[in-house]
Amino acid sequence: MKNNTEKVTVRIGEHGAVSELPVLKASTGADGIDISSLYKNLGHFTFDPGFVSTASCESNITYTDGKEGLLRYRGYPIEQLAQHSHFTETAYLLYYGELPSAEQQHRFDEALAEHRIVDAAALSNMQKVFSHNAHPMAMLMAAMAYLAALYHEEKDIYSPAYREKSMQRIVAKMATLAAWALCHHSQKTIVQSGGRFSYSEQFLRLAFPEKTDIKPSFVRAMDLILLLHADHEQNASTSTVRFSGSTETSPYAAVTAGIASLWGPAHGGANEAVVKMLGEIVSSGKPVEYFIEQAKDKKAHFRLMGFGHRVYKNYDPRAKIIRTTCHQLLSELEPENPNHPLLKAAMQLEAIALEDDYFIKRNLYPNVDFYSGIILSAINLPADMFTVIFALARSVGWLSHWNEMMSDGQVRIYRPRQLYKGYPQRDYIAVEQR
Ligand code: SDX
Repeated sequence: MKNNTEKVTVRIGEHGAVSELPVLKASTGADGIDISSLYKNLGHFTFDPGFVSTASCESNITYTDGKEGLLRYRGYPIEQLAQHSHFTETAYLLYYGELPSAEQQHRFDEALAEHRIVDAAALSNMQKVFSHNAHPMAMLMAAMAYLAALYHEEKDIYSPAYREKSMQRIVAKMATLAAWALCHHSQKTIVQSGGRFSYSEQFLRLAFPEKTDIKPSFVRAMDLILLLHADHEQNASTSTVRFSGSTETSPYAAVTAGIASLWGPAHGGANEAVVKMLGEIVSSGKPVEYFIEQAKDKKAHFRLMGFGHRVYKNYDPRAKIIRTTCHQLLSELEPENPNHPLLKAAMQLEAIALEDDYFIKRNLYPNVDFYSGIILSAINLPADMFTVIFALARSVGWLSHWNEMMSDGQVRIYRPRQLYKGYPQRDYIAVEQR
């Protein structure tokens, strides 16, 4: 949608060429300057490493306001969805754009239940190539690549029906694959059974086949973690899925790339890194102040994992919600141990950092990953499964953005340019003269 009432004029130097760039109006938040004609008119690129000031697309799905600490899925504040909704209802909202009726929700849940089985022989064969201590994110990538092969022939990315079926299949099967990776890790056999449980309970039952009963508080906590992690506009892994999808590859291949991108500790891998960091702090016997100083000392190469965010220069609204759930779950699970060591260390770090000038000046606050790992630990998930849980949730966001991009008609391949700083032309020198 181009609304060209306002323009920005760019001139190179005092007397150089001029280009008028249209301003694109956002429905909420920052407007955009359309620079797509800049190179053609002025022969210059824009330069924005890390895309700090660059909007890569138009989107209707999720809105974040870093200054105010706001997060809305299709206009609904995350606090309201966390309080009143559940994961598959929110998944429906993100993909289709509206909250479902009871009938639509039922049909959606039925579709997810229908697609959740993964061929047992294939899982068993895939397991053979992974040692029991293989990282589950690597297993998840391999399993998604297996699905890319399995469904390759039917690829029809401009068909809404194919996209919807692929979304339902991937979101449904991700829970089975996440449980499969955990079972392999803990040397248990996954039991893909029927049963009419909610998405989150179904995952926990698959992940812990030895448990005859799953605590309702675990199901609620897992469902909230999935809902809060479902989407977050153009983050690195969602942009990876859009980048890959723009080449017209299959959604299974694009999601494989998204899983790889999410794995990094600067992104989705931070939740695993937070719990590792908190464990090291607790076992070091050193005061948390020591680690705060380390985080401020560039030479120490130590970052306070779970702190800071490219968008949020205020408290990540998801972190606030997760912190409350942390307290509720731990006080329910361990009433005799009000000071769970990891939570106590996290609260101390947070209290000190939020008063410290280094963090205040840089607007560094706890993000979604700072507390989520503590909850996942309390549900008895090992730390290297935390990013798998993040991927499980974010598969909804990835596919919602992929669908939005593919629905715009002929997709344009993402192909950024560069500021070349290498050699001008030079001539080949025979090896004898080097
Ligand atoms: C997620 O994009 C999304 O939406 C992501 C996500 C989602 O839902 O998809 O929200 C999920 O990935 C959350 C972020 C998880 N990552 C971590 O918790 C890792 C620790 N945090 C950082 O590495 C960092 O804060 C980032 C990667 C999150 C943001 O990096 P930026 O925006 O590129 O900021 P920066 O690295 O330029 O830092 C600015 C300043 C620097 O100091 P100066 O050079 O100005 O002196 O802040 C410092 C940084 O050194 N800084 C930190 C810090 N994070 C930034 N210092 C200590 N500890 C930290 N954690």
